[in-house]
Amino acid sequence: FNVPEAKNEPILSYKPGSPEKKAVKEMLAKLRATEIDAPMYIGGEEVRTGNKKPMTPPYDHQHVLGYYHEGDASHVEQAINAALGAKAAWNDLSWEHRASIFLKAADLIAGPYRAKMNAATMLGQAKTIFQAEIDSACEIVDFLRFNVQYMTEIYQQQPNSSDQVWNRVEHRPLEGFIFALTPFNFTAIAGNLPTAPALMGNTVVWKPAETQIYSAQVLMEVFREAGVPDGVINLVYVDGPAAGEVIFNHPEFAGLHFTGSTATFQTLWKTIGENITKYKSYPRIVGETGGKDFIIAHKSADAKALATAIIRGAFEFQGQKCSAASRVYIPSNLWEEVEGYLKEDVANIKMGSPEDFRNFMSAVIDEKAFNKITKYIDDAKESPLVEVIAGGNHDKSKGYFVEPTILKVEDNQYTTMCEEIFGPVVSIFVYNEDLFEEALYLVDSTSPYALTGAIFSQDRYAIELASQKLQQSAGNFYINDKPTGAVVGQQPFGGARGSGTNDKAGSQLNLLRWVSQRTIKETF
Ligand code: ALA
Repeated sequence: FNVPEAKNEPILSYKPGSPEKKAVKEMLAKLRATEIDAPMYIGGEEVRTGNKKPMTPPYDHQHVLGYYHEGDASHVEQAINAALGAKAAWNDLSWEHRASIFLKAADLIAGPYRAKMNAATMLGQAKTIFQAEIDSACEIVDFLRFNVQYMTEIYQQQPNSSDQVWNRVEHRPLEGFIFALTPFNFTAIAGNLPTAPALMGNTVVWKPAETQIYSAQVLMEVFREAGVPDGVINLVYVDGPAAGEVIFNHPEFAGLHFTGSTATFQTLWKTIGENITKYKSYPRIVGETGGKDFIIAHKSADAKALATAIIRGAFEFQGQKCSAASRVYIPSNLWEEVEGYLKEDVANIKMGSPEDFRNFMSAVIDEKAFNKITKYIDDAKESPLVEVIAGGNHDKSKGYFVEPTILKVEDNQYTTMCEEIFGPVVSIFVYNEDLFEEALYLVDSTSPYALTGAIFSQDRYAIELASQKLQQSAGNFYINDKPTGAVVGQQPFGGARGSGTNDKAGSQLNLLRWVSQRTIKETF
């Protein structure tokens, strides 16, 4: 087994005058000037229903980027049939051919498609160039390359044998089709959720969030150019309940690869449970869901590093990462200094169109998100338990802009400390510096989630205590770093409790969920 060694795709600088900046600028101008007409892709066919829905940049919602063709239950049915029809030939391909296709997809994104992937993610999802680059260029490339490496490691793990006995394990794809349901907030996750099962020999029906369809189209273009055969990945744009009705009633439904809200995942799990007797096999259910990610500082922490982590962890991509820092516990001795840094940093944040590369933030994804986030902010402004340290304003006249908002709460159980907001709002609770262990208890018990978290401390005993007491509080735990920005191949990503099944994205663990082993014993 010899595959190209997986290495992380370097992050390009996009500094003034760089060729990569020029390429993205040109691509942004080109895409802005062209209205796309986005079909579904079913069995290799482009399907246009005529039921066209507009796609607009979240920061400029009057500008139409193009339209996508919405389908209905009959298209989901067709996509399932296409996936099942493509399965035998896809399974007959040796693993090297599947690997080659996805390695080629990685090379296409790292090279000729890089500018288009980034520009589409900037326009469609309002990511700044840096946030787009680490997602729709680097992370998806890393997923594709590292998954090939993990796949070959899985295939090589074989049981012991003896003189008269040869034992071996085959990793068969699951019997049936996989349903990939993908979120708006990472183009890379949208790309990984259908391709990871496909790499392991499965065929897939893929339904992206409607707010990510603009960049999903570019991913599909890449997959097709890389040689993903017709029917292996079928892309549909269908309303969730209508799609679910067909998918979860189908006897060949074999697995769900999901990233999205906890509530949706729980509803889907229940539906699958209710239909369990209909399926040929027990479906695999893999989900990454909500988060209420924390930062806790010990009294020994470096105040500047802590403030930077809060700003970056809470406000990059408008706080819409599932890993975003949204509740922070600061010891009383550090508060004054940290508050000063936070106010200064927020005052320097530039917010606007990501097409202006100087902006650090842009708009939140859509009106629904805007309304949800601003309700939390407006309620907080009215509450005697909350002091608004920075931000608090919002404006949706041109785009869905919400200022980076820092709330200092008197009650550690105030709603913004407990509930997922999924926007640029961070809540801070200042605790008595001598009650670190009690603060650790609050971190662990305040939310139902356990995705990411961070401890800032220069005291090794405090780090050790936090690590022990918070053992189940986060699937990704950071020591003296912000809780966002996991890198494939370096920090496998995922959480437990209300945050998901913790089958780490970009890992052997994840790929093993998409195979069913057959153990073979042969005697001579
Ligand atoms: N993998 C993403 C992060 O770590 C969600 O921020």
